[in-house]
Amino acid sequence: IEVEPFDIVVFGATGDLARRKLLPALYERDRAGQLPDACRIFGASRRPMARDAFEAFAREAVEDRDGIEENAPGDLTRFLKRLDYVAVDAVSDAGWDDLAARLKEAEDRVRVFYLAVGPDLFDDICARIGAHGLVTPLTRVVVEKPVGKDLASARKVNAAVGRVFPEEAVFRIDHYLGKETVQNLMALRFANALFEPIWNNAHIDHVQITVAESLGTAGRAGYYDTAGALRDMVQNHILQLLCLVAMEPPVSLDADAVRDEKLKVLKALVPIGEKTAGQLTVRGQYRAGASAGGAVPGYLDELGAGASGTETFVALKAEIANWRWSGVPFYLRTGKRLASRVSEIVIQFRPIPHSVFDGQAGPIMANRLVIRLQPDEGVKLWIMIKDPGPGGMRLQHVPLDMSFASVFGVRNPDAYERLLMDVVRGNQTLFMRRDEVEAAWRWVDPILEAWRNSREAPKPYTAGTWGPSAAIALIERDGRTWADDA
Ligand code: BG6
Repeated sequence: IEVEPFDIVVFGATGDLARRKLLPALYERDRAGQLPDACRIFGASRRPMARDAFEAFAREAVEDRDGIEENAPGDLTRFLKRLDYVAVDAVSDAGWDDLAARLKEAEDRVRVFYLAVGPDLFDDICARIGAHGLVTPLTRVVVEKPVGKDLASARKVNAAVGRVFPEEAVFRIDHYLGKETVQNLMALRFANALFEPIWNNAHIDHVQITVAESLGTAGRAGYYDTAGALRDMVQNHILQLLCLVAMEPPVSLDADAVRDEKLKVLKALVPIGEKTAGQLTVRGQYRAGASAGGAVPGYLDELGAGASGTETFVALKAEIANWRWSGVPFYLRTGKRLASRVSEIVIQFRPIPHSVFDGQAGPIMANRLVIRLQPDEGVKLWIMIKDPGPGGMRLQHVPLDMSFASVFGVRNPDAYERLLMDVVRGNQTLFMRRDEVEAAWRWVDPILEAWRNSREAPKPYTAGTWGPSAAIALIERDGRTWADDA
């Protein structure tokens, strides 16, 4: 479905995010016929650059994009024609009149400012957008993570953006919400009568959320060292996944209906602080090891520093204090340079109350629902069935397996494609509201503080493994194990 013509201005246009995600996503939507001819894409950054040079940069970004299906030369030409480049300085007025003049040529259309820059520039850029009169009634701003590095700084960022844009115009992006399987969580829960009646502590034993990456800090060690896994992945992506699993059914898919329910979950998270962080959290940092068959350096070598207390792995046991979830632990873990790239949510149901089978039948395993975000997206429901054949009643644990690739056989659009189009359409359902971001920090801050005050360093783990053994102990102490569906 085509959208109305729009203009998008990407600040940080020659950065990593623009190259890897934004330009390819806009190109794919263009190729899918979604961008009307009049759409314009402006690259903006401080560096003076000729339009042609930006075009060459964008061409390379598109040609190198992940998951390439085809590159029709006609598509690329049409896309590149939409591009323009303006040099603007976040901290002075240089270039802003030029940008204003270009935008003025099409004042009545949707206008998107995408802040693909470090959070230290959000304030200045927003202030200048405001001061140069660039905010029209149809203007929207996309704010990339990290929104702050703790509650206080997140509030500052939100206040700075809020001085120029009303909340309905602010799109705080968490690209995990644009992933197909994440949206499928809502379909699974609320478009089926099967799951919701048992989606609670009477039937669910525990939940696991794993976001494992095999890459290291991939050229971003400088930023990463100021963040660490808790800020980089848990505060946003993992807590968002937890919210979608745990929230009450919203009355509709309206942005505020969904976000109100997510906020309630964040507020119900049991705080982890000084007294409990030692038992409920595990931090790790990778040492040299092997990944994809080759030797890889340790985190400190990538960083080029002798020492760092930054965690590249974190495992946590979280609890939600409400009627539905009381007593159901949510085990969360994420890390860089782990054994493989796997992201999944595991809903582990309780065991059957009584077995009618004899010892020959073998063990009866509890049902388990696995929602796989990546790499091979799909949903598996593990059930017990009888082993086929005349050999008596022997039971087996097998998955009802729905792999999206084999059922649908279509390219899965990248999360950014979906989310960018939602911005253009003005749909905030898959974006984080100000109070949500702040509530997430309110839970994360005491953990960070407890870590700061503890004298313990992150536990070392060898690159290419599943993290420090303490993460395994964290769950095994409760008589449970990390699911191994990889
Ligand atoms: C980003 C983090 O938000 O998400 C990165 O800053 C991480 O450190 C990335 O690698 C993971 O995203 P995806 O879509 O590859 O799982």
